[in-house]
Amino acid sequence: MSYIQLNGITRRFGNVTAVDNLTLHIEKGECFSMLGPSGCGKTTTLRMVAGFEDIDEGEIRVGDRLLSSHKENFYLPPEKRDFGMVFQAFAVWPHMSVFENIAFPLRLRNLSADEIRSRTTEALRNTNLLDDADISPMDLSGGGKQRVALARALALNPDVMLLDEPLSSLDPHLREEMRFEIKDLQRKFGFSILYVTHDQSEAMALSDRIMVMRAGHVEQIDTPLNIYRKPASKFVFSFIGLSNFLKVVKSGDAVKPTGSDDAVNLPAPADVFGQSSAAVLASRPSEIDFGDDGHVRGLVKRRTYLGEIVDYAIVVGDQEVRVQKTARSPGPGPGETCGLKFLYPHWYPE
Ligand SMILES: Nc1ncnc2c1ncn2[C@@H]1O[C@H](COP(=O)(O)OP(=O)(O)OP(=O)(O)O)[C@@H](O)[C@H]1O
Ligand SMILES: [Mg+2]
Repeated sequence: MSYIQLNGITRRFGNVTAVDNLTLHIEKGECFSMLGPSGCGKTTTLRMVAGFEDIDEGEIRVGDRLLSSHKENFYLPPEKRDFGMVFQAFAVWPHMSVFENIAFPLRLRNLSADEIRSRTTEALRNTNLLDDADISPMDLSGGGKQRVALARALALNPDVMLLDEPLSSLDPHLREEMRFEIKDLQRKFGFSILYVTHDQSEAMALSDRIMVMRAGHVEQIDTPLNIYRKPASKFVFSFIGLSNFLKVVKSGDAVKPTGSDDAVNLPAPADVFGQSSAAVLASRPSEIDFGDDGHVRGLVKRRTYLGEIVDYAIVVGDQEVRVQKTARSPGPGPGETCGLKFLYPHWYPE
């Protein structure tokens, strides 16, 4: 049985259904990310697990504990759930030292002075904050403040860490570094992580599995590799990396890009065409080759050098396809026609 279970949970705010009949099962020690655009329900889901938000339907269980149940009208308050939590804003207490910031929640739990000191010191050590124990967290950088929040969560020895965009206020370099620190801590302590982000590369780097969410629903739950290689929908495809969506229309036996007389030289699965006879051929700019044996023909409108890569805008019918190649392999110049070969084509209904 899975360790964390969200069974059919729903949360409504007025006539907005923020989370709609969501079922999620997460294993012990798993790092699970919730990824999706603003307003899709990530924070609401996390807050329901934390116990800050009521649930309108369903139940939440962790291990053999029931945390929330609509049917049984049961609700365990956040402080009894014993989860570690880190949120986006630097939630440090400015008037307490770094040490006290970490020790304070332990004091609220009436632990002995020895236990508090040893747990706090250990958490400081694990987050490289030992030398900063006595200063104010306000004298630390953004990364340092988030480390304090992380240490505070760690000191509770949680089985589950709830992290809501914990790195989004940090600069990109630090953000990347802290990803690895979080991952290392997880390996060391074995807690499960429920991680909220709208940064796909962060989700990819950290997670065992990712849920891509849209308007309170699951679009796909899968490993990072499968989310990238086998996106279940056009929405998931568009959310991960750069994407081209070439609209095509079936005419007789041929499939043509809109505005083009040339047929697409690739077999299209019949079931992607709805009644409109239209579908979408999805591709990544970096997964298109130039060549005379291409699947469609196009005209180079623009070629831009971006350092390591060259970015091409290719006109196909009445649409544009973006292609990216390394600067080392020469491609066609503006005004030239070329063939485009889709190395990993995906087809979706229009
Ligand atoms: N307390 C609230 N009262 C009313 N509506 C709310 C409340 N909290 C969330 N919502 C609404 O629920 C939906 C989901 O919000 P949520 O904060 O869970 O999204 P999110 O995926 O975390 O977005 P973001 O990436 O912007 O943080 C949104 O439409 C939001 O406006
Ligand atoms: Mg949010």
